[in-house]
Amino acid sequence: MSDLKGKIAWVTGAGSGMGEASALALAAAGAEVVLTGRRQNLLESVAQRIRAAGGKAHVQAGDITDAGRVEEIARWIAGALKRIDILFANAGANIPDRQWTRLKPQGVDEVVSANLNSAFYCISAVLPAMRAQKDGVIIVTASIAGRIISNLAGTAYTAAKHGVVALCHTVNREECIHNIRCTALLPGEVATPILDKRPVPVTAEDRAKMVQSEDIADLVRYIAGLPPRVVLNEVWVTPTWNRAYVADLGLKP
Ligand SMILES: NC(=O)c1ccc[n+]([C@@H]2O[C@H](COP(=O)([O-])OP(=O)(O)OC[C@H]3O[C@@H](n4cnc5c(N)ncnc54)[C@H](OP(=O)(O)O)[C@@H]3O)[C@@H](O)[C@H]2O)c1
Repeated sequence: MSDLKGKIAWVTGAGSGMGEASALALAAAGAEVVLTGRRQNLLESVAQRIRAAGGKAHVQAGDITDAGRVEEIARWIAGALKRIDILFANAGANIPDRQWTRLKPQGVDEVVSANLNSAFYCISAVLPAMRAQKDGVIIVTASIAGRIISNLAGTAYTAAKHGVVALCHTVNREECIHNIRCTALLPGEVATPILDKRPVPVTAEDRAKMVQSEDIADLVRYIAGLPPRVVLNEVWVTPTWNRAYVADLGLKP
């Protein structure tokens, strides 16, 4: 599969989970990939695997809650690679103390900046180049918690991801005239390291039934390769064995 040959893709949260799998998939499809996250060692390992498979990867480590660093990375991409075709703004985080009874202002700040502010920063940073090119695909990882209000994801994460979904739709409303397409990606439960932050531990058996990072990567690669006339505005992708549905049926998930 090499339908993304010549494209430049920036993936945040590229050191683990969905970001890692998507960076590998985009590179395998021919894109030159820029990898961002805070843990440089994880990013280097992903880059090495891409290069070993004959692809091109660049590590630009950074904290996406730092608007200055985000702009710096976007400037580096524009300077060194000359364009930016695909942004997968995927990095995000949650905290264990997520219900109102335990939530502290520091937790609110952490979750809202990692999920919502960061999406604003990354999108703002790539829009000028995409407008100038009159072309660009932006995919943002929201969550099913961005549409369905439940206790599991917690109050700050639920509110932040609702914001992310709204943000994606505003991009399409304003930037469609520049041929920029934005997808809000709403995964249900995906077996990634973020599950380790759950207040109730998730068993290996449950993880095996969930959506896997590779499933998300396949979808991201597909969206990135769509003809410019098409935008997938919002995509829900959830496990068939949906633990919330199973519980609603009165069965043990
Ligand atoms: N897994 C699920 O069930 C699920 C469901 C719906 C939505 N999501 C969303 O999916 C996205 C990807 O998460 P994942 O499930 O693949 O889990 P993950 O493996 O924990 O990935 C999250 C990534 O984001 C990066 N990150 C977090 N905060 C960052 C920051 N301040 N600056 C830079 N990078 C940061 C992390 O790298 P560093 O720690 O090295 O920075 C990590 O690589 C997140 O937005 C998450 O909210 C997950």
